[in-house]
Amino acid sequence: MAAIEENPAGSTPPRFFVLRTVEPGDHDQLSALERAVFPNLWPHTNFAREIKKPRQTILVATVLSGPDNRPVVERSPSLVNRVVSGIRTMAMSGDHEGQRRERAAGWVVVWFVGGEAHIASIGVAESERRRGIGELLVLGAIEAATANQCDEVTLEVRESNKGAQALYRKYGFRVVGERKGYYVDDNEDALIMTTPDIREPEYAALLADLSADHVRRWGDSGSHFERR
Ligand SMILES: CC(C)(COP(=O)(O)OP(=O)(O)OC[C@H]1O[C@@H](n2cnc3c(N)ncnc32)[C@H](O)[C@@H]1OP(=O)(O)O)[C@@H](O)C(=O)NCCC(=O)NCCS
Repeated sequence: MAAIEENPAGSTPPRFFVLRTVEPGDHDQLSALERAVFPNLWPHTNFAREIKKPRQTILVATVLSGPDNRPVVERSPSLVNRVVSGIRTMAMSGDHEGQRRERAAGWVVVWFVGGEAHIASIGVAESERRRGIGELLVLGAIEAATANQCDEVTLEVRESNKGAQALYRKYGFRVVGERKGYYVDDNEDALIMTTPDIREPEYAALLADLSADHVRRWGDSGSHFERR
């Protein structure tokens, strides 16, 4: 029997997040979110056009809100089982269309080019940062890269963006080069960061550990992530 999971943290209400592939109805929210996260970006992404392009994936992280929109979690007999079965056991309680309320909180755009996946864009709403959404997006991007037979994942990041660099380092990215004056708005240099071969067993093991840690850490603090 399914039951609403209690909030392990006790006092803070549980929060629910979903990671899924972009849908046509997301365009306006994503455009607004990108403008808030990258106000100086030019040109801004045309998400309506991007979604139609081949050889790429756009993943969206959403926050669920409203009393009718809590996912129902199969109550597992132990924490270990909960970690193993993880977020995939979740199902939406508000199945009726029109009841679900999802607000875009983050996105990642991944291009697949010649056996390489490139994270072209990633961002999380300022109000939702440091809650594991960035990690979830990176995990999703790497899984998409694997599904598209890529060997590695690469990206550019501002030299001054230490927070994003820390996120990428956690997932095994290393600096392999730089692009001088890459950012046109202020001429800042970009670091090029790349994963090791994501098909190697060592990397798969790192990813499995990080993924399990993510489920455990955020589940225990009262946040729940569903991946579709
Ligand atoms: C970078 C960004 C996507 C991270 O998203 P987030 O949801 O806050 O990230 P998470 O909560 O999943 O953090 C995961 C890890 O990232 C690192 N990290 C994230 N923000 C950090 C910060 N401000 N300072 C230091 N480390 C940070 C940490 O290693 C963290 O792991 P920890 O919690 O074990 O310390 C978000 O800060 C953002 O959207 N920034 C503006 C846009 C941007 O810079 N995009 C990247 C362009 S290359």
